[in-house]
Amino acid sequence: MMREVTVQSVEETWALAAALAATLRPGDVVCLEGDLGAGKTTFTQGLAKALGVPGRVVSPTFCIVQEHGTMVHMDLYRLNSEADVLDLGWDDFRARGAIIVVEWPERAGSLIPGNARHVRFWHGKENSEERKIAIDF
Ligand SMILES: Nc1ncnc2c1ncn2[C@@H]1O[C@H](COP(=O)(O)OP(=O)(O)OP(=O)(O)O)[C@@H](O)[C@H]1O
Ligand SMILES: [Mg+2]
Repeated sequence: MMREVTVQSVEETWALAAALAATLRPGDVVCLEGDLGAGKTTFTQGLAKALGVPGRVVSPTFCIVQEHGTMVHMDLYRLNSEADVLDLGWDDFRARGAIIVVEWPERAGSLIPGNARHVRFWHGKENSEERKIAIDF
């Protein structure tokens, strides 16, 4: 069931990410959907912190995939096809049981498994840290 929450700060977004992280298992795919700047990468930072994986989560400018130990973070914004996603080593990450966190999952089409977790983000009031986040707990 999708539950919608309004958060008022980055810290609250991280806290929500930690709550989702507590329910994740190896091999899970987490799809983060929403506009530019809505908070997908920020949420991923919260997941990484809660999962205790190494490295700093950043918005990928040149690299589309960043590996943080057992968690893999992908931003598919610039990709056009499932073939491009496969070229990133998608099947290897899946075979390895990585937790794969995907921004712009639309680009991955049918590669996204039916049991993927979904989180959707919306901007809140202008010039605020308000965001609406729907999450399938
Ligand atoms: N409650 C909040 N949750 C998440 N980010 C917030 C919040 N309030 C303010 N922000 C700010 O909004 C920006 C969100 O950027 P972020 O990179 O997370 O978005 P994104 O959805 O990943 O965008 P893109 O599609 O460009 O990758 C950051 O600068 C962050 O500090
Ligand atoms: Mg991002």
